[in-house]
Amino acid sequence: MIEAKDINFYYGDFHALKNISMKMDKHTVTAFIGPSGCGKSTFLRLFNRMNDLIDDTRLEGQCLIDGQNIYDKSVDVSALRKRVGMVFQKPNPFPQSIFENVAYGLRVDGVRDKQLIRNKVEESLQAAALWEEVKDKLKKSAFELSGGQQQRLCIARALAISPDIILMDEPASALDPISTSKIEDLIYNLKKDYTIVIVTHNMQQAARVSDKTGFFMLGNLVEYNDTKKIFLSPEMEETQNYITGRFG
Ligand SMILES: Nc1ncnc2c1ncn2[C@@H]1O[C@H](COP(=O)(O)OP(=O)(O)OP(=O)(O)O)[C@@H](O)[C@H]1O
Ligand SMILES: [Mg+2]
Repeated sequence: MIEAKDINFYYGDFHALKNISMKMDKHTVTAFIGPSGCGKSTFLRLFNRMNDLIDDTRLEGQCLIDGQNIYDKSVDVSALRKRVGMVFQKPNPFPQSIFENVAYGLRVDGVRDKQLIRNKVEESLQAAALWEEVKDKLKKSAFELSGGQQQRLCIARALAISPDIILMDEPASALDPISTSKIEDLIYNLKKDYTIVIVTHNMQQAARVSDKTGFFMLGNLVEYNDTKKIFLSPEMEETQNYITGRFG
């Protein structure tokens, strides 16, 4: 359902992604791993056109979602970003109540039906495994939540607009082990309804949550395969060196 075809990406003269082709299936979790600066975030951001916001960049190749090139002139970028949600490394709740954070996208969409909004907020908080912790304080500021709770709130906010795909750029790297394991369980559970692409520096995390793993180095996709294969018997020496901690 997601396909990158012969992708080259440049920041000015800097060639950040080199001839990358990759397919990701529906309802799977794909992990991107690799040393810092190898292009994981750049590649991830292509799929909801977040790189469009950066000046002096150039893209060659195609990014297809369900067969449509999302860089076609006819594509409505805000509609695309509703289909392809994103969760960042640092939780970034809005300075509003817990409830309003999750309701935000619906309100922007012009939804006025209060009951419908309430239902969707609860459903999204449930799906993000946060409902039990916040159901009695929905009117409190999102900033009163812990970091791990804030990150699950951001996931709930992404879910509330019913995306098909969720991009996560190191969603647990700022969290403690317990919050991290909650996020990992959550990712695992979400994949029955969503297609998830996650960048992580944590090998155990990639091995635990993903079905497929892509290993990047210096702008190249060195190896992409079933996660088990990547971690147990990779084809490439660079992958082997990286996963065994010999560099990066
Ligand atoms: N806005 C930008 N302008 C210019 N160069 C950039 C920009 N963003 C990233 N780069 C460069 O592109 C390369 C890839 O960066 P990217 O952020 O995609 O790496 P990454 O694999 O996500 O790294 P990390 O693991 O540290 O997050 C790096 O060399 C980086 O310096
Ligand atoms: Mg990054």
